[in-house]
Amino acid sequence: TPRVFSGIKPSGGLTLGNYLGAIKRFVDMQGEMETIYCVVDMHAITVWQDPADLKHATRELAAAYLAAGIDPTRSTLFNQSQVAAHAELGWIFNCVARVGWMNRMTQFKDKAGKNREKVSLGLYAYPSLMAADILIYHATHVPVGEDQKQHVELTRDIAAKFNTDYGVPDFFPQPEPIIEGPATRVMNLRDGTKKMSKSGESDMERINMTDDADTIAKKIRKARTDPDPLPDTVKGLDDRPEARNLVEIYAALSDSTPDAVLGEFAGAQFGQFKPKLADLAVAKLEPISTRMADLMQDPAEIDRILTMGADKARAIADPILDRTYDIVGFVRPR
Ligand code: TYM
Repeated sequence: TPRVFSGIKPSGGLTLGNYLGAIKRFVDMQGEMETIYCVVDMHAITVWQDPADLKHATRELAAAYLAAGIDPTRSTLFNQSQVAAHAELGWIFNCVARVGWMNRMTQFKDKAGKNREKVSLGLYAYPSLMAADILIYHATHVPVGEDQKQHVELTRDIAAKFNTDYGVPDFFPQPEPIIEGPATRVMNLRDGTKKMSKSGESDMERINMTDDADTIAKKIRKARTDPDPLPDTVKGLDDRPEARNLVEIYAALSDSTPDAVLGEFAGAQFGQFKPKLADLAVAKLEPISTRMADLMQDPAEIDRILTMGADKARAIADPILDRTYDIVGFVRPR
């Protein structure tokens, strides 16, 4: 049976990239398939997190999911550390995955940089835990932004190697990365060749899900652009990364396509286009940030929702872990 799993790290604020590349698409998949969405707190601590900040970020991310439209009765919504099976299967996958596979992970290379000897062992093993997140539910579909594609492909390799090594050809499914829509890679507002991320040095590079209307409008007004008007076809966006990014953001926010956006704005200057984009972004994001702030008034209620979600998650994960342990040869309680 088709089953969706995806996760987001509670490390710092959420950006428009997380919203358009992930959360918004998670909402759209509800009702189409069984959906499981996770706050991956165990992934967050692969780099240092202040404990109080981590608790806050975990609740804020849960609030973002809820405010954006994840319905905890239709989806399973929880934080990873409450479901021990993730870590338990993660260990088994550490013994299935090869060091050489981890060495090829571009995100690890980017994050570790020249500091390879000093980063945590967890950062290195991260993709193996991510594979466990997905496969502990036998999930078949994984909606993610472009930057996670390689990790989902590695998940497929781990599933295949486990199945072959233990002679259980169909035990773990081959999950499909779902990387669709116009905003699978939202770019930095000041440099269209770099990804929008929560950790970039200037706040003007990104739109945060908690930004107020004035801040959103200002960031869009000041976004870098080139001097040419908008082209009439998507082809005309080639070699214009900043222009392409703003058109794609507009398309994603309006549930449209870059072609349709250019159909409306071909020939317009950015001086005309940017105010429209700012209005659209504020109209879509402000209600979400308002609901997030409301939800954050009652952290106990958020915790209750996460606990309920964790119970639902365990009901799926624990029997799969049991079978996995048996396949591996661990003696099980009788
Ligand atoms: P994370 O927390 O970095 O990002 C969460 C999701 O947001 C997407 N995303 C973007 N999409 C478009 N444009 C951007 N600029 C942008 N920035 C981020 C990411 O692609 C992701 O979908 N390893 C994952 C979390 C994870 C996970 C999983 C995901 C852990 N286990 C299992 C799927 C399945 C991560 O660090 O995402």
